[in-house]
Amino acid sequence: MSLGRCEIFEVGPRDGLQNETRDISVDDKVALVDRLSDAGFGRIECASFVSPKWVPQMAGSGDVLARIKRADGVRYAALTPNMRGYEDAVAAGADEIAVFGSASEGFSQKNINASIAESLARFEPVLAQARHVDLPVRGYVSCVVECPYDGPVAPSSVAEVADRLFAMGCYEISLGDTIGAGTPDSIARMLLAVRDVVPVGRLAGHYHDTNGRALGNIDASLSLGVRVFDAAVGGLGGCPFAPGAAGNVATEAVNAHLVQLGYETGLDQTILEDAAALAQAMRG
Ligand code: HMG
Ligand code: MG
Repeated sequence: MSLGRCEIFEVGPRDGLQNETRDISVDDKVALVDRLSDAGFGRIECASFVSPKWVPQMAGSGDVLARIKRADGVRYAALTPNMRGYEDAVAAGADEIAVFGSASEGFSQKNINASIAESLARFEPVLAQARHVDLPVRGYVSCVVECPYDGPVAPSSVAEVADRLFAMGCYEISLGDTIGAGTPDSIARMLLAVRDVVPVGRLAGHYHDTNGRALGNIDASLSLGVRVFDAAVGGLGGCPFAPGAAGNVATEAVNAHLVQLGYETGLDQTILEDAAALAQAMRG
């Protein structure tokens, strides 16, 4: 019996690769995105218009967007921390963009060199411009359970930032367990608070698998109505500004798990495994 539809938002070419120290060529990144384009995703995050001094690996993002073969029905997404990032993403033809904030002050400072309040003020003009040209904007909230600098994060802090991003016009809020500290219980407590301010149909779970609990956290999220999950093929990933942030939960594992539970994902498991091997071979 089908339990209905679940979507995996593929973040491998961005979150998966951004942390790799080896210089990965634009050709390799394009090959990975092109393979993923055949798998059945509706959205693939493959670019990040951030400072190349902060994240050197993402410096070729414009070239990646220029050279991929765009598949019908796939939106190719990019991170944009500020107006400079927004302009570069639009020039490169990103189909959607994402602003990224944090529920904890420590991570906000280390990741984007701004307090939470300053970051939200920076996102306002990005959202306003995007609205003008009908460009969808996703909003990330990092450290939804714990921060590598400040420790445990209150569900109310996550709800507050999620609420602000949603009110600003983000069409979906992706909740990042950046260092994989969440448990099914702490994820559920956080979601109950966020669900009070943002409709659950507009939430996504973005769970790093540092402690091997991401699939359990996905199950807890499913039982509260979340139906979109971020994942990276091959389980690559991490954030350079979050010590201990191991890989994103692996797309091929999430897909197999969801299908086994009875959800429809529309993804081709063989292509995912192929792309996972390709991604792992790029690892430094
Ligand atoms: P800053 O130093 O405060 O910025 O950095 P600034 O405005 O003072 O500018 C400093 C320099 O950066 C200037 O260049 C700017 O032109 C340049 P200079 O004059 O020194 O040559 N600059 C830029 N260059 C390219 N693109 C831009 C841009 N903006 C300024 N958009 C800034 C602030 C936000 C730029 C910086 O902190 C940064 O780039 N941070 C990015 C951090 C990052 O990418 N982290 C990883 C992604 S988040 C993540 O992985 C978590 C997530 O997966 C969810 C989860 O797991 O929780 C999403
Ligand atoms: Mg992440």
